[in-house]
Amino acid sequence: MSCPIGTDVDYAAGLLARGGLVAFPTETVYGLGADALDARAVARIFEAKGRPRFDPLIVHVADLAWLERLFCSVPENARRLIDRFWPGPLTLVLPKTDLVPDLVTAGLPTVGVRMPAHPVALDLLRRAGTPVAAPSANLFGQVSPTTARHVADQLGSQIDYILDGGSCSVGLESTVLDLSGRFPTLLRPGGLSVEPIEETIGPIQRSDAASDETRPQLAPGMLSSHYATRTPLLLARREDRLPAAARIGLLAFVSESPLDQFAAVEVLSPRGDLAEAAANLFAAMRRLDAQGLDVIVARPVPNTSLGRAINDRLLRACRKVE
Ligand code: TXA
Ligand code: MG
Repeated sequence: MSCPIGTDVDYAAGLLARGGLVAFPTETVYGLGADALDARAVARIFEAKGRPRFDPLIVHVADLAWLERLFCSVPENARRLIDRFWPGPLTLVLPKTDLVPDLVTAGLPTVGVRMPAHPVALDLLRRAGTPVAAPSANLFGQVSPTTARHVADQLGSQIDYILDGGSCSVGLESTVLDLSGRFPTLLRPGGLSVEPIEETIGPIQRSDAASDETRPQLAPGMLSSHYATRTPLLLARREDRLPAAARIGLLAFVSESPLDQFAAVEVLSPRGDLAEAAANLFAAMRRLDAQGLDVIVARPVPNTSLGRAINDRLLRACRKVE
């Protein structure tokens, strides 16, 4: 049985206020939300996603007044980033107050907070009157959803309502920046690229895309299985040999030829625009995954600005742990 999909923000806000689970659109990807201050509601998120362990969740706010209640303090560099990039695809990690249940942060002393740049999300958050904890609304380890239909396909039977706000414009998860230590550290490349962040607060430490996504110190050397397609995915340049497989799909950045060796082709941005490619990435991965292919060959994109986040997701998809 699938849950209702609709555009009734008031109804969705009422569900959240009563401990319900609501999937909602943001500019990055769809989130699976629950009242961040209600640990029982938050526990349902982990249950629905089938997460084998408790990962820290991002808390979403529409009102800056919440910052004082969620973070112990808001340092100057955080203020500057907030002024410039919120609402937007930037999550800031800082020491948390006792108001934030430990389940939200998986026991960490810090919490990640962001203000999404999507009118429906902001409307929902304001009406719910509470911060909303939300991971991406996909099953554990799978591709993040960028439409309400994607959410319904994976989680429809587990949640109370899917708020439909169309396709996500950014299409990649938020950039996660840890400001709790001595040096600002990039924990996850995402929808806001590093250059404008460094313009605002100076150099930041970048973690290596090949290490586990945000907690390398807790999972040394472990490769993340996130963002995976069911079909094996391989990163290969045009000059590389194709794998020996009958049905090969191509996930290309720009148009290329010849294409006759491919059973299915997705081009992320015919005009070579990284923002357009990011917005199309997860939906294109899903379409290829539905074609019954033996393997998907993905082309790395230029490793600048949003390209770094796209390559990070492709790399993780290749490293799916069976
Ligand atoms: O764009 C997004 O960020 C989407 C939308 C729904 O907002 N959310 C999302 O959530 O991608 P999720 O749970 O799929 O990824 C959250 C990331 C994880 O990599 C998690 O480890 C990190 O943020 N994170 C959250 N709180 C953290 C904390 N206190 N310390 C370190 N990492 C944290
Ligand atoms: Mg996720």
